[in-house]
Amino acid sequence: MIAAAVGTAWLTGVTQADEPGVIEFDEGERSRILSHGPWPLPWTPDRSNRVSGNVHAIDLGERLFFDEKLSPKGNVSCGSCHIAEYNWTDGVKRGVGQAMVDRNTPTLMNMRHHRWFALDGAADSLWSQSMRPIVDPRELASNAAHVAKHLRQDADLSCRYEKTFGASPAAHSDEAVLVGVGKLMAAFQETLTTDVTPFDMFRDALARGDQAAAALYPREARRGLKIFIGKGNCSTCHTGPMFSNGEFHNIGVSQVIDGDAKKVDGGRRDGIRKLMASKFNLLGPYNDDTNRASAVQISHLKPEQRHFGEFKTPSLRNVGYTGPYMHNGELHTLEHVLNHYTELDVKRLHAGGPSMLKPLRLTNAETADLVAFLQTLNMDRAPPWRGKEYAIPPCVLKDKTVESENYFAP
Ligand code: HEC
Ligand code: HEC
Repeated sequence: MIAAAVGTAWLTGVTQADEPGVIEFDEGERSRILSHGPWPLPWTPDRSNRVSGNVHAIDLGERLFFDEKLSPKGNVSCGSCHIAEYNWTDGVKRGVGQAMVDRNTPTLMNMRHHRWFALDGAADSLWSQSMRPIVDPRELASNAAHVAKHLRQDADLSCRYEKTFGASPAAHSDEAVLVGVGKLMAAFQETLTTDVTPFDMFRDALARGDQAAAALYPREARRGLKIFIGKGNCSTCHTGPMFSNGEFHNIGVSQVIDGDAKKVDGGRRDGIRKLMASKFNLLGPYNDDTNRASAVQISHLKPEQRHFGEFKTPSLRNVGYTGPYMHNGELHTLEHVLNHYTELDVKRLHAGGPSMLKPLRLTNAETADLVAFLQTLNMDRAPPWRGKEYAIPPCVLKDKTVESENYFAP
């Protein structure tokens, strides 16, 4: 082991204190760093959505995502809040459609790697989550009848729908068309992923033992990374390549909405209630996975008091572009987020909350290093996206068979 590590001695913790700029990582730290990759993760189809990966579904889903006519007032689309140029969020505290919603708009990047959807986990598939804003009176304020009518009346949308599903929207019930629209939008959102970042290049260099490549990673970021995986305890929740365990925690962020003590965001507790009551969860009739292998066992979920105030651990990929932060958007910058962890109001963590959280008491220098590290989780350029104004040729139905060319095929 030692012999093999000679060329990369500093990577494995053998002291090279006189080499400027080198921050050492011991074996344990090294393996924790490696656990945050490799990136990107491979694509696996969503078995609960039969059009996952289908190129026609992606095209049509993209159109519908930006189609304001899905809302009866003709004024709001998904793209009103999930704005491509803003990393698929909106840069404001809380999203605004027909009215202001209770939460901050999360990014849609890397959505296909999530297990629960919405910040309270009220949906267990990307397609069912995509249906919720359509019918929410504060968002698109639409309904199944309006959505189905719109698709049936527009010849091009009808044609594309038929190409994807093998039947025209006229042959489907209003509700089935609404579910179809959710699945089309999900297929589109599955294509939104972040690229390799400076952190990934460092992580891969560590894995290869490539000292020259690893040396390009800034010193501040290296110090911040050491805190992230060490005394900061951040990587106990922000785990793996996504920098999220995909689960729910109460980290002491205020749950009060609009400063009105009677309006409280119950987080995961209410999310479980909504998920179990939904006809569109994976136990319901619209899950396309006939053997139900994709159905997360939600039947044993119970909305218990301990879930009160828990929110989904956000992925930290592209975190420099997702502000303002937290489920309610109350923190403006990454420095504010780190001050939250430094000063942590333990009274807000109810009994049974995660004992892994205590006020971190970071120094200003440590905060700056952690921010420098977090900024290396950003891509330095926007990922390729053709833009919502792209032109695609008019739809022609060659025959009735469903063409299902796979977008992700190598
Ligand atoms: C009014 C602004 C607004 C509009 C319009 C909107 N969203 Fe969202 N979106 C949000 C907010 C806020 C959340 C967080 C919701 C929650 O936690 O309950 C969210 C959550 C999501 C999520 C889950 C993200 C996660 O991390 O789990 C997906 C997927 C999504 N939206 C897709 C869509 C689609 C598809 C549409 C159009 C049908 C849409 N959104 C319309 C603001 C909006
Ligand atoms: C106990 C689990 C846990 C630990 C430990 C933890 N986090 Fe978090 N983190 C969360 C959850 C949950 C949220 C979302 C809270 C909310 O929305 O109210 C969050 C939110 C964030 C956000 C805001 C992201 C966004 O898009 O809104 C950042 C940045 C962040 N954490 C970084 C860190 C850092 C850095 C550390 C270590 C100092 C850390 N976290 C430790 C669970 C954790």
